[in-house]
Amino acid sequence: MKTKTRLTLFVMTVVLAAGTYSLAQMSDHIYTSQVIETGSRVYVRHCALCHGPDGSWVEGIDLARGRFHLAVSDEDLRRAILSGAADGRMPAVNLSEADLAGIIAYIRTGFEPEGSAVAIGNVLRGRGLFEGKGECTACHRVNGRGPRTAPDLSDIGAIRTPGALQRSLIAPASALLPINRAVTIVTRDGEKITGRRLNEDTYTVQLIDAEERLRSLVKSNLVSYEISATPTHEPTSLSSDEVADVIAYLLALRGQL
Ligand code: HEC
Ligand code: HEC
Repeated sequence: MKTKTRLTLFVMTVVLAAGTYSLAQMSDHIYTSQVIETGSRVYVRHCALCHGPDGSWVEGIDLARGRFHLAVSDEDLRRAILSGAADGRMPAVNLSEADLAGIIAYIRTGFEPEGSAVAIGNVLRGRGLFEGKGECTACHRVNGRGPRTAPDLSDIGAIRTPGALQRSLIAPASALLPINRAVTIVTRDGEKITGRRLNEDTYTVQLIDAEERLRSLVKSNLVSYEISATPTHEPTSLSSDEVADVIAYLLALRGQL
């Protein structure tokens, strides 16, 4: 029981001194940059030979981007490291508690010693929050269900690091991609279009309008074209444990099988 509790608490969030978002709600489990540094040394010594300096050498696994075969939670990572995986092709590596904490923090920062390690909670709870209290499905589409006005998140776990997902939730302004922005457009015919930009080249812009129609507009036909610099998200009001659960769910979204 004691171990279980410890494992559950073994969830972490680091914001370095220079970090941009508030620590207040996340201060339960903090890893210092020293822990991450320890992790980078452990990595070089015990893991890099097989997984490569950037974590991508083992087929189908990309440690820095949080892409594993089975592991999702920090607990899964501990188990894979301490007991090995895939019938011994991944050997058990015996590490001290401090080294283990370090290596997990290092993986969760996406191998950025300057980065912030991210708490990963429970997938099922995260799904419940995503569809319920978090109201994410009011805007986001997953596996063919939900509106198209916000980015489709069906494979978000395969294309974003845990750190990027966390930023989207707790510091959305710093996570805003250049392309994924709200736009307000007025055409020469006087039509006013609001939507979200998907793509743009020199002459045209593609967007999803408020009625969820995919549209491509020729720029020379526009009288005004405003791109919003503010994110749609407010920083989330979910608790740090809830954010950890939602991130676990997002990481499990890797496209439909
Ligand atoms: C001798 C080579 C070798 C070493 C050393 C090694 N690994 Fe692995 N690791 C593998 C292989 C091979 C797999 C893929 C297993 C599979 O096919 O599922 C793997 C899988 C993993 C996985 C994914 C488990 C899953 O559930 O998908 C993680 C995480 C991992 N390794 C972390 C580490 C870390 C951290 C270290 C250093 C402490 C390390 N490995 C050292 C070879 C190695
Ligand atoms: C009011 C609509 C709305 C709600 C509710 C909403 N989102 Fe978003 N979300 C967006 C939009 C629009 C974007 C695109 C970036 C922007 O404009 O902020 C976005 C971006 C994201 C991204 C980044 C996508 C990428 O490509 O990196 C993630 C992750 C995300 N949202 C997750 C969530 C989660 C989890 C919830 C629920 C807790 C949620 N969103 C609730 C509208 C919404």
